[in-house]
Amino acid sequence: PTGLLSDALGRPLHDLRISVTDRCNFRCVYCMPKEVFDKDYQYLPHGDLLSFEEITRVARLFVAHGVEKLRLTGGEPLLRKNLERLVGMLRALPTPSGRPLDLTLTTNGSILARKAQALKDAGLDRVTVSLDALDDGVFRSMNDVDFSVADVLHGIDTAHAVGLGPVKVNMVVKGGTNVDQILPMARHFKGSPTILRFIEFMDVGASNGWDMRDVVPSGDVVRRISAELPLVPVAANYSGETASRWRYLDGDGEIGVISSVTQAFCGDCSRLRLSTEGKLYTCLFATRGHDMRALLREGHDDLALSGAIAQLWRGRADRYSETRSAETGTGQLDGPRRVEMSYIGG
Ligand code: GTP
Ligand code: 5AD
Ligand code: SF4
Ligand code: SF4
Repeated sequence: PTGLLSDALGRPLHDLRISVTDRCNFRCVYCMPKEVFDKDYQYLPHGDLLSFEEITRVARLFVAHGVEKLRLTGGEPLLRKNLERLVGMLRALPTPSGRPLDLTLTTNGSILARKAQALKDAGLDRVTVSLDALDDGVFRSMNDVDFSVADVLHGIDTAHAVGLGPVKVNMVVKGGTNVDQILPMARHFKGSPTILRFIEFMDVGASNGWDMRDVVPSGDVVRRISAELPLVPVAANYSGETASRWRYLDGDGEIGVISSVTQAFCGDCSRLRLSTEGKLYTCLFATRGHDMRALLREGHDDLALSGAIAQLWRGRADRYSETRSAETGTGQLDGPRRVEMSYIGG
């Protein structure tokens, strides 16, 4: 099913990712390194955040434009107080097709066990959990706040138990850091309901010290796993899917690889992002957002907001990952500063 709006490259609008907080209780080295996100870091003041009512209003307009999937992100979305209230409000949105929205959330899993039942009751469909290693030492050094693997695994189990599955697990692979965890992670989740996905380390934001030499191409990941546990490719679930799917030859489940560096997937990118403070970003790598909050708070009516949304999407021509050149190298600080992933939402 395609959306009702098409951008400048003919891509439909299908997926709205909503960041509900720029804060996180982890300090993942590739996302919110401690040196930058220290105790003096200026997070958004509360009044700058979109309220649940404002988020729901924006989401309602997008759904009317054909958006069929909403994903709550952050930062760590479960740090936003009473998030289940927002989930309930989004669940109640009417869709033009009458089909229910796909309502999902990406979390680091740290407080998922505590929240899973309330989220399910409010109408959340499923969750995606980040986990970068099975070895506690490696994981603790990657989240940099000494959080244990066992707690995240408990969160995943609880999500399954309350009906928020099948859970997807995202593992960012970073050279020299967790490459030795690829096989242990694959073995651990093989044969379980959890779908493990390996993500190439991306040059998103401006503070994670990205270097092409730390990118482990997904092709290598697949070869490594396949040497021990043979894999065969599977067709995508839907057009615009971020992950390429592979299933185990023995029928014991599947994995995914998200190759935004070595095999960009901008060609059918149907995602739009709403930042914590209400700016719309047409690409994960955008340097500038479009201020929806101003429009909301200036008192414009739905027709005006809806028109602004349509105009924004129709003019969209972003395809950063496809045009990213070797010159990106380590030169992240050249040109306008890109927004951080913790702010725009993964
Ligand atoms: P499913 O519906 O479960 O397949 O989810 P998804 O793959 O759309 O969402 P998820 O949040 O799990 O995305 C996985 C990861 O892919 C993100 O955390 C990002 O690292 C990356 N990603 C998602 N969308 C984009 C995108 O538009 N561009 C790029 N370059 N990377 C993306
Ligand atoms: N490169 C790739 N993935 C990243 N994530 C955060 N920062 C990066 C990066 N620089 C991932 C997280 C999480 C999702 C929201 O995005 O690990 O799974
Ligand atoms: Fe937090 Fe997720 Fe970023 Fe890690 S990747 S610091 S868990 S927002
Ligand atoms: Fe979409 Fe931008 Fe990611 Fe390309 S780089 S897939 S256009 S968000």
